Amino acid sequence: MTNIYTPYLAKIKKIIKETHDVKTFQLELVNPESKKKFNYQPGQFAEFSVFGVGESTFCLASTPTRPEVLECSVKKAGKVTSAIHELWEGDTVGIRGPYGNNFPVKQLKGKNLVFVGGGIGLAPLRSLINFVLDNRGDYGNICLVYGARTPGDLVYKKELEDWDKTPDFATHITVDKSAGNWKGTVGFVPVILGEVAPGAENAVAITCGPPIMIKFVVKELSELGFKAADIITTLEMKMKCGLGKCGRCNIGKVYVCKDGPVF
Ligand SMILES: Cc1cc2nc3c(=O)[nH]c(=O)nc-3n(C[C@H](O)[C@H](O)[C@H](O)COP(=O)(O)OP(=O)(O)OC[C@H]3O[C@@H](n4cnc5c(N)ncnc54)[C@H](O)[C@@H]3O)c2cc1C
Ligand code: FES
Repeated sequence: MTNIYTPYLAKIKKIIKETHDVKTFQLELVNPESKKKFNYQPGQFAEFSVFGVGESTFCLASTPTRPEVLECSVKKAGKVTSAIHELWEGDTVGIRGPYGNNFPVKQLKGKNLVFVGGGIGLAPLRSLINFVLDNRGDYGNICLVYGARTPGDLVYKKELEDWDKTPDFATHITVDKSAGNWKGTVGFVPVILGEVAPGAENAVAITCGPPIMIKFVVKELSELGFKAADIITTLEMKMKCGLGKCGRCNIGKVYVCKDGPVF
């Protein structure tokens, strides 16, 4: 019988340093059979293991429309994430998944999409954004409001520039506190969202970031006319199994790992 906790082996193809504490890992599953089995959708997550250290949960920041590599962006937080940051290109790690539900890519067809992200919370949004760009004819205009604490904390800087040059894609980047030669916007994400005021008609908003940001973003979105049904968020709870077995991630009767993380 297969053990549900056995990870697939994956080789680190490339490591991109995003900020002082975030690195993006491009991974390739070693076994061709596991490549076939690892079918994921934007919004899903995986358990990433460093052998001899432990496992941690990360969303899949890549899009299934670009199947060459799987990507996870990892912020250094504690034991496992520090060990992940010590890894080198060519090292082998374990991956279990994909787990959880996903963004409703079919229901979003024909809609204008408003993405609101904070810090590393851009990672799951990036998966959906690139999915939408790879299926451009199926979706309406895109608006992104993204912020980080300082300019140095912004992730995917090169991609942000590329998105900014993409037709029908409005990007609004902001930082809480200016530093260095930053000439861009300064202000909290919910405030900038209110200033940008994307139209709510035929639009769906998708948000991910720190809980306090999500709280004020949802408030701002409802003031802009977005109904609760048109606001999607992805939640992060401390997880262990990722499979609805250990009871670590529940909010009332809901298991974030199984019923979410997309709500
Ligand atoms: C569905 C989901 C998707 C996630 N996606 C990403 C991602 O794409 N990139 C990323 O960098 N992180 C992501 N996280 C958070 C990541 O799982 C934790 O930061 C990581 O597990 C910490 O492990 P550690 O052993 O390094 O930290 P620990 O040594 O276990 O803890 C260090 C600190 O981090 C806190 N912490 C641990 N786990 C979590 C958690 N799940 N959420 C919030 N705080 C936590 C602890 O309370 C403690 O304060 C995600 C979490 C979930 C549940
Ligand atoms: S992480 Fe074990 S039940 Fe959700």
